[in-house]
Amino acid sequence: MTGYVARAVEQNNLLPELFVEPFAGGASVAIAQLYRGLVKKVILNDRDPLIAAFWSTTFFDTDWLVEQVRNATVSLETWNRLKAQNLSGTRALAFKCLFLNRTSFSGVLTDQAGPIGGQKQISDYRIDCRFTKETIIRRLECVASYRARVAAVWNLPWQAAIARVKRMQKQGTLPCTGVYFLDPPFYRKGRHLYKYHFDHSQHAALRDYLMQFDEPWILSYDSCPEILSLYREGGMRASQVNLIYTAGQGGKKGSGKELIISNLPRMVSELQMGVGRKASKAIPILEVQAAQENMDSNAAVLSTRHQRHRFKDLTRLKSRRKMAV
Ligand SMILES: C[S@@+](CC[C@H](N)C(=O)[O-])C[C@H]1O[C@@H](n2cnc3c(N)ncnc32)[C@H](O)[C@@H]1O
Repeated sequence: MTGYVARAVEQNNLLPELFVEPFAGGASVAIAQLYRGLVKKVILNDRDPLIAAFWSTTFFDTDWLVEQVRNATVSLETWNRLKAQNLSGTRALAFKCLFLNRTSFSGVLTDQAGPIGGQKQISDYRIDCRFTKETIIRRLECVASYRARVAAVWNLPWQAAIARVKRMQKQGTLPCTGVYFLDPPFYRKGRHLYKYHFDHSQHAALRDYLMQFDEPWILSYDSCPEILSLYREGGMRASQVNLIYTAGQGGKKGSGKELIISNLPRMVSELQMGVGRKASKAIPILEVQAAQENMDSNAAVLSTRHQRHRFKDLTRLKSRRKMAV
């Protein structure tokens, strides 16, 4: 994903001064843009107070967080205490976020997520197996070294975060040329993965907002028919929706499919991604799907004249694709 976004920004000659992630989570894409020197400033926002506090403390109170990691007692007792405590205050929330992320199953922060190794700690993997202090400290310090380019970390609902960006741009306190990368809670598994997740109407509200949002935006989703339908109904053109096959982290396991939807004029194509290399490949999913439907059932799924014309091209595209294979 980080490579895709970097490519998309480059292919569209955007030269953004500001990169906004309204659903920051692990903030991997914004951080990669900083590492690559592709943007001057980033804004991170997340509705989850734990996550927002974590990023704020990582960047702006680094030494304190590093000290907490160094002195942490990584045990089931600490896990149970932090899980039960109703904490307030940025520092306390930040450490809770970091500790639970490193010691809970799959790093999940929901109330239901349990500790690695379970309450009995009889598995080969124990509570501390992902809490390697030196590695965590090295990563924190590395990320934090980019603090001068983090314009802000907010704990707001996404609508309020975008409104605040716009207000500050008008006031001249943020750069005007921005790109938004939106990675909302997954449609299918969101409620198992995030404390704050969306129901269908919230996914639809985001779609409605984006359909009239005229800043450059790139949206990432789990690949599922519900999201395809939402954006199709919203009027997204076939060429604005890609399916990306991503390699597992570190090229190991867990490869997956992600939808990329964007209002950028040029989507990153298979060719531009460098198919065959370990990274990922992108195909225009709606084009293939629409061509398939058109050929299979001869039914016009998309009904406007403009879109029917597209279908002819899409059918040709599919034939070309077949030939290429
Ligand atoms: C898919 S995750 C983001 C993953 C992230 N891009 C990464 O690289 O790890 C979705 C995030 O959206 C946040 N979120 C959920 N509802 C939100 C809302 N209404 N406004 C802003 N953030 C929200 C969740 O807390 C979660 O961290």
